[in-house]
Amino acid sequence: MKTLVLVAHPNLEQSKVNKAWMNRLEQEENVTVHNLYSIYPNFEIDVEQEQQLLLEHDRIVLQFPFYWYSSPALLKQWQDAVLTYGFAYGSTGTKLQGKEFMLAISSGGAAEAYQAGGYNHYSMSELTRPFQATANLCGMHFLPSFLLQGVMTLTEEKVQHSAEALAAYVTNPSLRADQ
Ligand SMILES: Cc1cc2nc3c(=O)[nH]c(=O)nc-3n(C[C@H](O)[C@H](O)[C@H](O)COP(=O)(O)O)c2cc1C
Repeated sequence: MKTLVLVAHPNLEQSKVNKAWMNRLEQEENVTVHNLYSIYPNFEIDVEQEQQLLLEHDRIVLQFPFYWYSSPALLKQWQDAVLTYGFAYGSTGTKLQGKEFMLAISSGGAAEAYQAGGYNHYSMSELTRPFQATANLCGMHFLPSFLLQGVMTLTEEKVQHSAEALAAYVTNPSLRADQ
């Protein structure tokens, strides 16, 4: 089982969580870490190369910090450019069918805020629905998301602990997606 992790963080230099996650995942043998903002600083995505990478992997992970209740912009650009008709969807677009798909998201807001009555009102499952719908249209199996929330107040130790948990989860999703 080969796993592709697409990392989308516009400022990894200053990242606490996503940088630690990426560094940890790079140590995994069957995991390919693909750092989108460093490869495509001008948003000019090499569609053929990205599609080839998808074909070579069985499990696709999108890793990003939650920005305005969604992903940073380059990941949306990646979806628009790479998930083309005839490749990802449509009657002959069957290339992603049967692959596993999951999200790994860090958020400033704490878990309690992401529920009815919390200050963000909606759950992460509700807010990530477009990714789930995308996976569904492409015939991919949407797995529970790996979430690290309330990251502003987390100790270095907790961040490292989550990096270990993420490495275990992406390589064996039958484990639960909690920290
Ligand atoms: C432009 C921007 C938008 C953000 N939007 C959200 C948001 O909608 N919800 C949230 O919980 N946190 C939001 N945050 C906080 C980030 O999710 C948080 O800084 C990030 O997960 C930390 O990860 P890092 O240490 O890898 O940078 C936002 C941060 C920025 C810079």
